[in-house]
Amino acid sequence: MSTKELIISILENNKGQYLSGEIIGKNLNISRAAVSKAIKELKSSGYSILSVNKKGHCIPLQSNTLSSIEIKKNLKYCNEIIIKNSLDSTNNYGKSLLIENPSHGTTIIANEQTNGRGRKGRYFFSPKDTGIYMSIILKPELISLDNPLKVTIATAVALTKSIDELCNKNTLIKWVNDIYIDGKKIAGILTEATTDFESGTIQNIIIGIGINFNTSIFPEELLPIARSIFSKEDYSVNRNELIARIINEIMDIIGDLNNENIIKKYREKSFLIGRDIVFYEKENEVFAKVLDINEDGYLLVETTSGSKKTLSAGEVNIKW
Ligand code: BTN
Repeated sequence: MSTKELIISILENNKGQYLSGEIIGKNLNISRAAVSKAIKELKSSGYSILSVNKKGHCIPLQSNTLSSIEIKKNLKYCNEIIIKNSLDSTNNYGKSLLIENPSHGTTIIANEQTNGRGRKGRYFFSPKDTGIYMSIILKPELISLDNPLKVTIATAVALTKSIDELCNKNTLIKWVNDIYIDGKKIAGILTEATTDFESGTIQNIIIGIGINFNTSIFPEELLPIARSIFSKEDYSVNRNELIARIINEIMDIIGDLNNENIIKKYREKSFLIGRDIVFYEKENEVFAKVLDINEDGYLLVETTSGSKKTLSAGEVNIKW
């Protein structure tokens, strides 16, 4: 561990308490000046550390700063964790890393995204400090992948489990990649892959996850459809705890992609089964009722004219 990581670890272990530079220095066998220098650098890379003359340094109890040390404390696996203060998109950064052959499960997390992307070329609102924007790189040869949609399905199940159990919420999944609480979107998944052109095989998978953790201000156009898991001040867990839980759940589930309980859970958590929806077929609006989700994760619907259809991708809108 680097000096900075060790200092964060000491302060996190004494969260809410001030520790003098001298005490921290003695613990690490370094000078007070070295402690001050490291703390200054930590603050400028976004850590919330309070420093008070004659009292010392402290991480506030309610701190929600991203920290790889804090995430790793709760990880069951040895994922490499990369944290950046600002990125255009963690999925883009993940792609740029592929040339270095990152290990299975490498996770990139940003405190903000300046060009967060959603499905269908949409943007994903990614303000600083209040969201979770993360991408997990997976090696397809380590998972049995017969149907790529299953990666998104399994991730959605892992997300709902993590948020429900850790944050004590009741999430639902809007087919195929959105997570809802009380009828509003709190999270989305963007799964991307790189393929080998000649063999047509998938070489890397990047699962991008965006969560509104405690964002309180949304752009006008998102107000009717988006919300956060928590309100601005009132969160019972911090981002590091939730990130670690999500990584654990994803690593568990991804190793067992063909387990039939995944689709069972996905159905149980479906926001769409039984609802009236609208989808587009050759640019025509089609009204339908959702009957079920099949073993492959496809949506089974019955249109108002009585024909049954299987939707494999695309977008459906709920008819309220
Ligand atoms: C959607 O809502 O359609 C999917 C949103 C996915 C957003 C996440 S945030 C982390 C990762 N990086 C991106 O640019 N997008 C995904």
